[in-house]
Amino acid sequence: MKLTVIGAGAVGATTADNLVRRNIAEEIILLDIKEGVAEGKAQDMMQTAALLGFDSKIKGVTNDYLQTAGSSVAVVTSGLPRKPGMTREELIGTNANIVKSVVENLVKYSPDIIILIVSNPMDTMTYLALKSSGLPKNRIIGMGGALDSARFKYQLATKLNASPNDLNALVIGGHGDTTMIPLINHATWNSIPVTHFLDPVEQEEIVKKTMVGGATLTALIGTSAWYAPGAAAAAMVESIVLNQNRLFTASVYLEGEFGEEDINIGVPVILNKNGWERIVPIQLSDSEKELFKASTDAVRNMNNVLKESNLI
Ligand code: LAC
Repeated sequence: MKLTVIGAGAVGATTADNLVRRNIAEEIILLDIKEGVAEGKAQDMMQTAALLGFDSKIKGVTNDYLQTAGSSVAVVTSGLPRKPGMTREELIGTNANIVKSVVENLVKYSPDIIILIVSNPMDTMTYLALKSSGLPKNRIIGMGGALDSARFKYQLATKLNASPNDLNALVIGGHGDTTMIPLINHATWNSIPVTHFLDPVEQEEIVKKTMVGGATLTALIGTSAWYAPGAAAAAMVESIVLNQNRLFTASVYLEGEFGEEDINIGVPVILNKNGWERIVPIQLSDSEKELFKASTDAVRNMNNVLKESNLI
């Protein structure tokens, strides 16, 4: 089993680090365009093997896609991260060209690959990856909902003084500060609805903090976050590699599900050796349906930029 991580920046390197520690692949290729960076970070990670007890090998390469040949799964983190005050959507101009060429190179050497897109604006980059790769829809997955759901659980756990591991909570919709939809009415604390413990003002506060989870960190750190994004990407890859059938929200191509088509957006899916195997239907309230519609409108506007730029 061979895996590839494209981009050895903070998110890519953290994804690779999480993957190598999991010991689920014989080989991980870490690829970056900057000479030496991926090689250096990969060697640094390999020097933790004797301390952490893994046998996976990680190899860094500079833009050499031949080395990625035969990969089962690739995680694409390339492109610019956001700076304080920036929206994820503002990155489209630079990142679209990068993601398109990365995906084409990956498919050239690994025609059966499953690709997980992390680059922002994530839903639109996932749609671009699907259109430019020619791969079946189940092999293109956007990482966003898994991260946002983990951030939602963090906010709930903090407020309830509970273990994040006892919380079940999903964020659907787009991976944007105003487009994501934390489904507080569906969230449970070991099967008890969290709404039993939180008044409407507290619920609203948790939803708002979840939505700006990434922006809050960008303001504090000065660049986009990496620990939770890397951990979320690795957990999704693990479900694919080990055929775990875990349920995550991920950005996938809709063909009528949730009343939408020709769009990649976050919905609950099962991840296994086939990529995203099926969408898990959930009953949305009228207000949740309205939010989902507004979210798809916003993502579609971004997707139109790809069409105007002749990228798809
Ligand atoms: C974030 C970036 C990875 O939400 O989109 O931190």
